[in-house]
Amino acid sequence: MADKIKRIGVLTSGGDSPGMNAAVRAVVRTGISYGMECIGIRRGWQGLINSDFIRMDASSVGHILSRGGTILYTARSEDFMTEKGRKHALSTCKMLGLDGIVAIGGDGTFRGALELSRLGVPVVGVPATIDNDIGCTNYTIGFDTACNTAIDCIDRLRDTMQSHERCSVVEVMGRNAGFLALYVGIAVGATAVLVPEREFDFEHDVIERIRNARLAGSTHFMIVVAEGVGSAVEIGKMIREAIGIEPRVTVLGHIQRGGSPSARDRETATRMGFFAVKALAEGRSNLIIGTRGGDIVETPIEEALVMKKHLQMERYHVLETMSLGSASLARYSNIE
Ligand code: F6P
Repeated sequence: MADKIKRIGVLTSGGDSPGMNAAVRAVVRTGISYGMECIGIRRGWQGLINSDFIRMDASSVGHILSRGGTILYTARSEDFMTEKGRKHALSTCKMLGLDGIVAIGGDGTFRGALELSRLGVPVVGVPATIDNDIGCTNYTIGFDTACNTAIDCIDRLRDTMQSHERCSVVEVMGRNAGFLALYVGIAVGATAVLVPEREFDFEHDVIERIRNARLAGSTHFMIVVAEGVGSAVEIGKMIREAIGIEPRVTVLGHIQRGGSPSARDRETATRMGFFAVKALAEGRSNLIIGTRGGDIVETPIEEALVMKKHLQMERYHVLETMSLGSASLARYSNIE
């Protein structure tokens, strides 16, 4: 039982992701079960600077499990990056009597968490970003829903691409990471996928794959481009110049961040929120909750921030094996 932790704050920060609400609900309800009072900090770290908060009880998080976005709002706070801003935030923590904070978000959120923990406020992070790019966890809340949304959109595109026998170039989010692009590419049977983690040769990785698919009988082609690679519009132009077809370019954009969270995101968010509060209640903090092999794990924030997450290149091999664009698979037999 928590005898030291009487009141905790919970916030969502950075780009929103489906399942953030489920995590907020889990934090509040678990906190209550430990006899803690819960304060929702609105608009991320900026809310701590501006003293922008709301008292939360069990019913204030009712009926939000299935809702996308975040009821606490979110922001990327530049003020919190300054010493002055963090001092304000610390004063708010003291004024509100917060004994700990659960911060739900991605990389930027955890850099903020580290700074606040250095000022003596116990913080636990919960990873939530559609990019799935946090090194200390196999999975981040929102990734599954974002993949499903992108797949749904691309399936629709495929219908019209098939009718018109066209080439489609689709840009998906992911910031500097290609997880979303590669998972989605496999799931939609893309002709080619371009990700920032893997240098590509345009002629070999795009044109030759389209050509091979055509030679194998396909009359429409789906090229998925991770935003971290560059502009899909540029890739579209390069395809036109190389082989004279007129690709249609679609940038999926923020649509990938919305929508009702999938079963995986609701369940993972609920467990992560629960374990974040449990850690605080048991006297552990300045860590990030994660999953490994299906289990919940804890990693100190400082360590977590320098951990790299590698895209499993074996997935590339799978993608290329499935696609009609792979005329000579022998070439990839040594891929790691
Ligand atoms: O980190 C989540 C993310 O959606 C990235 O995939 C994308 O690059 C970025 O946020 C977009 O940020 P904003 O909402 O500020 O345009």
